[in-house]
Amino acid sequence: MLEKFNLSGKTVLITGAAGILGKEHAEALLEVNSSLILTDIDQKKLLNLQDHLYKKYDSKKIHIFKMDVSDPDSVFEVSKKLDNSNIFVDILINNASIDAKFDNGNLPTGTRLENFSLKQWEEEISVGLTGCFLCCKVFGTKMAKSNKNGVIINIASDLSVISPDQRLYLDESLPEDEQKVKPITYSVIKSALVGMTKYLSTYWIDGNVRVNSLSPGGIFNNQDEEFVNRISKLIPLGRMAASDEYRSAIQFLCSDASSYLNGQNIVMDGGRSVW
Ligand SMILES: NC(=O)c1ccc[n+]([C@@H]2O[C@H](COP(=O)([O-])OP(=O)(O)OC[C@H]3O[C@@H](n4cnc5c(N)ncnc54)[C@H](O)[C@@H]3O)[C@@H](O)[C@H]2O)c1
Repeated sequence: MLEKFNLSGKTVLITGAAGILGKEHAEALLEVNSSLILTDIDQKKLLNLQDHLYKKYDSKKIHIFKMDVSDPDSVFEVSKKLDNSNIFVDILINNASIDAKFDNGNLPTGTRLENFSLKQWEEEISVGLTGCFLCCKVFGTKMAKSNKNGVIINIASDLSVISPDQRLYLDESLPEDEQKVKPITYSVIKSALVGMTKYLSTYWIDGNVRVNSLSPGGIFNNQDEEFVNRISKLIPLGRMAASDEYRSAIQFLCSDASSYLNGQNIVMDGGRSVW
């Protein structure tokens, strides 16, 4: 490993760590010697992940905390516990979101704008956007005060720079008003994260906090074959991403290897957004 990638002595907090990408971020960071604070609203999935990581990596530097990013009390409580244990968050990865997935036809119905409820809007914004704001406020403020080269990575999406292509989800057997769509919240949240990234990248510059976002393209997760064929045609590389293909980007963004990168949105989408 190049020394610039070495995160030995650094601690990374990941939100929504128990999902598909959270596990990959965790493995990527253990590969470069980081200590981890894995947080998620789902305690059971967190325990399974911790167990998996302990078995695979010879590391005792993995803490887990149940934390709901949309609840300020929950975020403050974890922050207080970390303070009490003298654990400092050097790097924050805002990864949690409610991500409506097209897994074997399971993209939720009722996501069409005409039917989209205010409750659902607020719920999704509260996790993907407000959650990022709250974690930045709590952990980013401490990074800036300590002036120890803090890093924040916001996980956005290729849909931060392009509109969802709703034709991907077309089901010929359904009438138009029952077609499934990627919800408006996803685009709004992911675009807003890029804005938050730019804002914070200058706001805490005196405290030496670098802030960037990573915008992954869709990950292959045994989705419906028809869907995979359709989306692959929109991607110059001709395929969806494997879940571990973002690991090197995480290692780069979290470490001194990216020491001159600030305020940017790294779009890693097989070229989909340039076509
Ligand atoms: N999977 C993809 O194809 C893909 C593509 C582009 C971007 N992304 C983005 O990557 C990130 C991770 O995606 P993923 O595929 O791993 O999603 P996932 O659904 O597998 O994982 C999300 C995790 O967030 C947790 N979570 C939900 N609400 C929470 C809350 N209130 N507080 C804390 N945790 C909460 C869930 O329990 C889950 O473990 C998301 O921001 C997603 O939008 C994913």
